[in-house]
Amino acid sequence: MSRLIVISNRVAAPKPEGEGGAQGGLAVALSAALREYRGLWFGWSGNVTDQFTGQINFQRHEGVTSATIDLEPQDIDEYYNGYANRTLWPLFHYRIDLAEYDRSFAGGYERVNERFAETVAPLIEPDDLVWIHDYHLIPLAAQLRERGLPNRMGFFLHIPFPPSRLLVSLPFHEGLVLSMLAYDVIGFQTEEWLESFRHYVERELGGRCDPDGTVHVGDRSVHAAAYPIGIDYQEFSEAANSEGARAAFDRLRASATGRHTIIGVDRLDYSKGLEERFLGYRRFLEEHEECQSKVFLLQIAPPSRGEVDTYEIIRTDLDELSGRINGEFASVDWVPIRYVNQGYGREDLAGFYRASEIALVTPLRDGMNLVAKEYVAAQDPENPGVLILSRFAGAALQLKDALLVNPYSKEEISDAIHRALQMPLEERVRRWQAMHECVRDQDVVWWRRSFVEALQGNAADGN
Ligand code: G6P
Repeated sequence: MSRLIVISNRVAAPKPEGEGGAQGGLAVALSAALREYRGLWFGWSGNVTDQFTGQINFQRHEGVTSATIDLEPQDIDEYYNGYANRTLWPLFHYRIDLAEYDRSFAGGYERVNERFAETVAPLIEPDDLVWIHDYHLIPLAAQLRERGLPNRMGFFLHIPFPPSRLLVSLPFHEGLVLSMLAYDVIGFQTEEWLESFRHYVERELGGRCDPDGTVHVGDRSVHAAAYPIGIDYQEFSEAANSEGARAAFDRLRASATGRHTIIGVDRLDYSKGLEERFLGYRRFLEEHEECQSKVFLLQIAPPSRGEVDTYEIIRTDLDELSGRINGEFASVDWVPIRYVNQGYGREDLAGFYRASEIALVTPLRDGMNLVAKEYVAAQDPENPGVLILSRFAGAALQLKDALLVNPYSKEEISDAIHRALQMPLEERVRRWQAMHECVRDQDVVWWRRSFVEALQGNAADGN
């Protein structure tokens, strides 16, 4: 059997106790795949070294081998904080107003992809399957091919793929997309992002897309399909029934003192629509005075990518906005927004989700969004809460029974909160059952099996 080589910017392989926090769903799923296929997980250690050496740090824990390298400060500036998070991330989330185009970023991106290729190539054996993840490493397969690797290689994009008309704002966009043709399989979260890719290929590269998912450009043929990622349903359900989750549930319910909880959990990122969400919630408080002091919004938002200025700005803006709304509406015994800049582990989150009558998941654009799926998985089947979901999250294509909203519209957010609070038990149960079935059946194990099968050459897509 072939081995599986997973390559991503961040490596979330299991670590010895005390080093690093709880594993996320993706980490659990890929670790399970690596146990099944042996192989290893390669990527950046998260550490900085004065000068790049290419020295690999191997670790083996819980049956999974990780191989990581340190990067030098210039790599982090130009590749991670630069091209990945100042150029591609905003552009791929449709924010060309925030995208920065700087030659040094593009140079650093190429250099780090070359460094990854050079370091990982000797670890890859001829019949290994290579699975590369996300926007940090788009040109990696092309780099590996240049070094003569003949392996089957797959790429999965965890974030949206932008429409052609936006993508052409990227200098040398053709080069980036052409480099994707070095893969054998390209996976997107949804049909919508796949459609943007196919449109770009036809319009800008003069390629051809067959109905079976094969994309042809020149003499290259690649299988491109949608494989919507899921949560690790099994593990998450266990976490939801744990002692820790019960304690978190009790803690939140006790502090709610009979009020309804609306929960939001997001990495602090402008793509998550947090300002728009706060303003929608503010509109709700204004329009429904009778509900004031009967609900509160618990927004958990751990900061991320703090070295990128757009993230600093959004953080300052949210501090200001939450403070303003609280000052405007709070009374001596009620604060409308509990804004928490701290991350929580899986058990705590599962308990908080279950204790919350409503979840507000309203990104302006999101590849998939697993918070929506975790919220569904954590609910009490007899008395489930209501999911309010942005129609611009990839998850909206699967969770059609959520209350779907336009996250830019304060009115729609306000109306949806009001509707959720009034929703009869029978409707809540009906909507939840339909969503739950999808979250349970199309989980992360199903996702990685569909992708790996396609990578092995059995072209089955995720639908
Ligand atoms: C998104 C990306 C991931 C990334 C994660 C956290 O989910 O798709 O590739 O790892 O955000 O961002 P960070 O920059 O902290 O790795």
